[in-house]
Amino acid sequence: MQIAVVGSGYVGLVAAACFAEIGHQVISIDNDAQKISRLQQGEVPIHEEHLPELLERHRGKALKFSTDLVGAVRQSAAIFIAVGTPSTEEGDADLSYVESVSRAVASAINDYKIVVEKSTVPVFTSNWIRKVMLLDGAPSELFDVASNPEFLREGTAVVDFLYPDRIVTGADTERCSSALCEIYRPLTDGSYYSRTDRAAVPAPAGWSAPARLIATSTKSAEIIKHASNAFLATKISFINAVANICEAVGADVKEVCQGIGSDSRIGSRFLNPGVGYGGSCFPKDLKAFRHVARENGYDFNLLSAVIAINDEQRTRFLRKVRTALWTLKGKKLAALGLAFKGGTDDIRESPAIEIAKSLLKEGCEIRAYDPAAIERSREVLPSKGISYHDSAYSAAEGADALLILTDWPEFANLDLERLRSTLGYPIVVDGRNLYDPTTMASHGFLYYSIGRADVQPAHRNGSPEKMATATSGKAAK
Ligand code: UDX
Repeated sequence: MQIAVVGSGYVGLVAAACFAEIGHQVISIDNDAQKISRLQQGEVPIHEEHLPELLERHRGKALKFSTDLVGAVRQSAAIFIAVGTPSTEEGDADLSYVESVSRAVASAINDYKIVVEKSTVPVFTSNWIRKVMLLDGAPSELFDVASNPEFLREGTAVVDFLYPDRIVTGADTERCSSALCEIYRPLTDGSYYSRTDRAAVPAPAGWSAPARLIATSTKSAEIIKHASNAFLATKISFINAVANICEAVGADVKEVCQGIGSDSRIGSRFLNPGVGYGGSCFPKDLKAFRHVARENGYDFNLLSAVIAINDEQRTRFLRKVRTALWTLKGKKLAALGLAFKGGTDDIRESPAIEIAKSLLKEGCEIRAYDPAAIERSREVLPSKGISYHDSAYSAAEGADALLILTDWPEFANLDLERLRSTLGYPIVVDGRNLYDPTTMASHGFLYYSIGRADVQPAHRNGSPEKMATATSGKAAK
């Protein structure tokens, strides 16, 4: 099928490359001429596993880049809208980009098309798109509006697209619903997986069968997207709250997670406590979902609690740093991670960035390292008081403590002997629970983590000594 994807950001670019990969002819549209020209020349603007291979494979063939929205609409049977929907001051989604794309699509419509919202948008957006297009003169028999939410995670977006858990298509007419089924058929009937020429994007561990396509109304699809993200964020805040109780009573959140996560009704995924969730989706989507609920007469106060717990995790982490170091002014701190999670260069709503900003305000000197997010971080962090390094060890050089802020796999595999001898003081405050406290103590570290007892270097008999809990306010140094 001929497809236009409007917006070539994280969602749009991945979707465009993957639609080409499963056999469609795709035009990726953006109004940023520089970005389009860089994409045409082979640049890959985001750090996303497997995306460079797909772009290389399809660029100029099944995948073209253009700024000409009208031309692309005329040639396409399906137009996916994947433009930004940032938060407004009030917490609802700013849909002005969606609106202007809808108007442009209306002006270009020449035969039947489906217009599909792919950006995360509140319920009723498809109604609005339809209204705006009709007002702008698009004949009602020439288009349908659908909602096809994406569930891609940054860092694994290509694999998530090609090996999804489920595909949700929200449509209100049979014609539109069938068109969406047709687009995803290579994934749902498994034909993509048996193609011998497919690019080597390996299936994730545990993947067994083609995805189920769940066909719903447009409104249900819109709610599914918000509710999925809200549920996952709730799981994270729940486990963070449990971690805080574990700290208070001296229990171990890792053991608790094992215990609750092995109930198949609960599941063990998204039960990792830490500095809180960030990124371009959860913070924005939770606020937007709460806002849309309020607008429709329902006070979704559970979401307010989820947001409050998440905010508090950063404050608690800062308190831990203070507990470990006593005073902060003038302290040299190695910060491992700036991205909002491992595997991405995205720093939007990153807890690591907020923590770094707070510590800089306190007069700390930050020595930062991130495998992918340094360039983006330079643009948002103050230049004074921070230096950027090309490895964890270089950041740790002479530091008063090491802070782990992002769950990059390489941060979980550091040479602990080398790290201890590189640091000025053997203090690690781990906001992602990447290490086992006993191991850290036996390597001579004072180790602070989330929802587990703080430990100090093992005594001669080999057993780590537990310290007073972080919340007790006892200084470690
Ligand atoms: C999320 C959804 O997972 C995805 O389905 C949707 O399409 C977009 O939003 P993403 O923002 O890429 O994807 O990140 P995700 O892997 O879900 O993590 C979100 C945040 O939660 C990160 O800051 C991560 O560090 C944090 N997190 C995740 C935890 O703190 N604990 C966990 O157990 C899992």
